[in-house]
Amino acid sequence: MNTAALPIGIFDSGMGGLTVLKELAQRLPHEDLLYLGDTARLPYGTKGQETIIRYTLKAARKLVDMGVKMLVVACNTATAAALPSLRAHFAAIPVLGVVEPGAQAAVAASSNKHIAVIATEATIAGGAYQKAIARLCPEAVITGRACTLFVPLAEEGWMDGPLVEGIARRYLEDILPLTGCGEKTHNEPDTLLLGCTHFPLLQDAMRNILAPQVRIVDSAATTADCVAAELRLRKMARPTPGGEHRFLTTDNPARFARTGSLFLGQSLAEGRISLVDL
Ligand code: DGL
Repeated sequence: MNTAALPIGIFDSGMGGLTVLKELAQRLPHEDLLYLGDTARLPYGTKGQETIIRYTLKAARKLVDMGVKMLVVACNTATAAALPSLRAHFAAIPVLGVVEPGAQAAVAASSNKHIAVIATEATIAGGAYQKAIARLCPEAVITGRACTLFVPLAEEGWMDGPLVEGIARRYLEDILPLTGCGEKTHNEPDTLLLGCTHFPLLQDAMRNILAPQVRIVDSAATTADCVAAELRLRKMARPTPGGEHRFLTTDNPARFARTGSLFLGQSLAEGRISLVDL
């Protein structure tokens, strides 16, 4: 079989990676996409590194056994903890994560190279974003902050309003300039990198409280660009138009459909989601 005709496998701990799938679908409309959300084990972001690696390898094995030509790790936490292990285990196919593209987007957006990164506890503790940004721009100043509550808020569909803005303020007020904070100073971050799949959903609430000079970037669009470039480079683009999207979850397809619709920005029917065991 022609490998190029296989789908691209996309993995996330849950539904958050659908923000990456959405960008991939726009950027690569002819490609088939096979998405796996490990909702039975979600959240990954509060777990230890070894557990995250173990879960991620199992999920990736499922996708590889089903037949994918490339693996996109759409989960920041899984990328941060498990990318080297994934590349070692599945050396026959390209494995792309979201951390490097996110770091590229942040460095490109920042003028003063002072960047604030927000992510899950595990991603911040592991320092993957800090290291990736420093590799691209050694003089960058990076401030990291775990914003654990943003994950359940996004899944609950609580994306705006005073309560969400209050929580965002609590997490961000001592690392970024807020609205009405007076003169802009050069040593404050001018860029906020959303280093978690869930955080783009809360972007409007963050925008409302942050000073206007702060740019907000995430890795979804840059990751889609990297996947497109990799397909071109390896001559792996689908030879005939496809565009089929299939969804797998390890628990509760009804909840996946409901919450997934928020991340996808369009309705996702429960009937399109298959329950799988890892
Ligand atoms: N997908 C995870 C990430 O991007 C967030 C949810 C979780 O903690 O599993 O970091």
